[in-house]
Amino acid sequence: MEQVTRALGGRIAYGADYNPEQWPEEVWDEDVRLMQEAGVNLVSVGIFSWALLEPTPGDHDFGWLDRVLDKLHAGGIAVDLATATASPPPWFLERHPEATLVDQVGNRRAFGARQAYCPSSTAYRDAATTLITELVKRYDEHPAVVMWHVNNEYGCHNDHCFCDASAVAFRRWLADRYGAIEKLNEAWATAFWSQRYTSWEQIGPPRQVSYGNFANPGQQLDWWRFCSDEIREIFRVEAAAVRAHSDKPLTTNFMGFRKSLDYRSWVDVEDLVSNDHYLIADDEDRTQQLAMTADLTRSLAHGEPWLLMEHSTSAVNWQPRNIAKTTGEMRRNSFQHVARGADGALFFQWRASRGGAEKFHSAMVPHAGTESRLWRDVVRLGADLSAIAEVSGTKVAQAGVAICFDWESWWAATFDSHPSVDVDPMATARAWHKACWARNLGVDIIGVTDPLDGYEVVVLPVQYLLSDEAVARFTAFVEAGGTLVATYFSGIVDEHDHIRLGGYPGGLSDLLGVRIEEFCPLPEGDEIPLTSYGSGTIWSERGRAVGADVVAAYATGDCAGDPAVTRRRVGRGTAWYVGTELTPEALDTLATQVFTTTKPVVGGLPEGVEAIRRVGEQGTYVFVINHTHEAVIVPVRGTDLLSGNDGGPHVVRAGQVAVIREE
Ligand code: GAL
Repeated sequence: MEQVTRALGGRIAYGADYNPEQWPEEVWDEDVRLMQEAGVNLVSVGIFSWALLEPTPGDHDFGWLDRVLDKLHAGGIAVDLATATASPPPWFLERHPEATLVDQVGNRRAFGARQAYCPSSTAYRDAATTLITELVKRYDEHPAVVMWHVNNEYGCHNDHCFCDASAVAFRRWLADRYGAIEKLNEAWATAFWSQRYTSWEQIGPPRQVSYGNFANPGQQLDWWRFCSDEIREIFRVEAAAVRAHSDKPLTTNFMGFRKSLDYRSWVDVEDLVSNDHYLIADDEDRTQQLAMTADLTRSLAHGEPWLLMEHSTSAVNWQPRNIAKTTGEMRRNSFQHVARGADGALFFQWRASRGGAEKFHSAMVPHAGTESRLWRDVVRLGADLSAIAEVSGTKVAQAGVAICFDWESWWAATFDSHPSVDVDPMATARAWHKACWARNLGVDIIGVTDPLDGYEVVVLPVQYLLSDEAVARFTAFVEAGGTLVATYFSGIVDEHDHIRLGGYPGGLSDLLGVRIEEFCPLPEGDEIPLTSYGSGTIWSERGRAVGADVVAAYATGDCAGDPAVTRRRVGRGTAWYVGTELTPEALDTLATQVFTTTKPVVGGLPEGVEAIRRVGEQGTYVFVINHTHEAVIVPVRGTDLLSGNDGGPHVVRAGQVAVIREE
């Protein structure tokens, strides 16, 4: 990100996807003028312009793009130039019908929207490489271009393809992973249900199986791994095509907690991490969800500044009810991302479209034009971001808490044929993140193999799949003085999704000091009272403590007296086990105990007022985002870069934001 920031003259990036090809050329001059008025300094150009840049295979028309880039450059707007490969034109499938996407049932998915190609298609990779090579050779030296935007939201609409080419690629991937078919048979436990394979050709993707039945879980897990790797492979191919002719930084825009893509294994392909984030309107905790996604993105970037590539100025168009953002919400959202480490806030898109499937999506220039509240808010946000330019390059202060969230475990924990459909690692992770968010504790969302240095508390929410190595690292962390909180359905299986025998939670049993003998999931909606904290939902268990203190037991029912929450002192640290999904109130009470010594970024703020500190050589900055309807007094001294107010404590009014450079 540093290189991009430098190219922007040290400013925070501000802008949007810019799709001039949707408009007559007369509009382009007005675009540049309005961008200047709004303080826009970076736009992503050409994301969906393959069909214009290469109208027929091999014939390129770059004239219009030359003119767009020249105009932007003359206007002082930098460009994140897209490889334009996000969506192949109609001629592509006409020439390569074998690249058509096929769903799990075997239906072919037609052209007519976007991303209509099979990720394993070599024809797609070749066609993309040809276009990229022409484009990068032509524009690498263009003074407007400061970075490359490779593809767009890979796998958003084509993450799993079940066609024959995908089957071949899956077999190749399996042969690489296992070497010998017997190893695969062992990993997939094919002794069960007469599934033993004797040749690779017998294996396919987990297509829809016999009625009311379950595909082999080992096959499912490897399929999810393969699909994530396969799409990452396209990214590698495209990135290599860019790098063959350019040294400029490149990125691809992630989609946060996108289940099918294990982004932790993607980040080494790119030079900077960028993410797209959209609020889900009917999520009551959408503000916290935004914060959690930003915490994930920063962790993916290993704490370095990252780029918010897309968010929305107001409503989107793809939810059942597309709720407009309320007064000040866009500004608060943008500042949330920047507070949590983004050095830029870009939107989808610059000008609201007249036609096409996204014409009702908000943009920086709305259909109403500049005589609108939205436009005034956009201009104000540009001024605000320019007022905090000195923050760029700083990093979010060391977090006290880490929540582990691993894609592999997420996949495996949510397959069919499990004890309860209500188990949801994401929901449990969010509940713990919310407990931190409400207390203004710094949190990172890390992977089980990421370093644990510097954290006081590490949470494992439904970390179902755990390797021996991970268990050893968590044990060492606790022995050295750390606090670990593991929930139910953690440590249950190894990397092949095989149960760890001898009592649950398998791998973590010794560390936590509990032996669970049987899972007792609850009927839908039921709560089970505990002897302290309150109640649990979804899950209960039959078992006993072996070395841990039982701090809450099940109070009623068949598991009455068995441990629900335990604590064990290990070495200089503490290992907690939470054997049920605590209700929000119960979790809040437990969290107060667990986090007693973990310091908030700023103490004494009510829930709904976020405070995050960014730290750099130039100083330390406290971002305060007041999502509540009351003014709040923030006990921090310094200058608020937004209002210019000096001193402190600072009053941050309802719905407002402050960025305080500390004295
Ligand atoms: C993103 C995508 C954009 C646009 C946006 C609408 O997923 O990258 O092209 O479709 O969503 O919210």
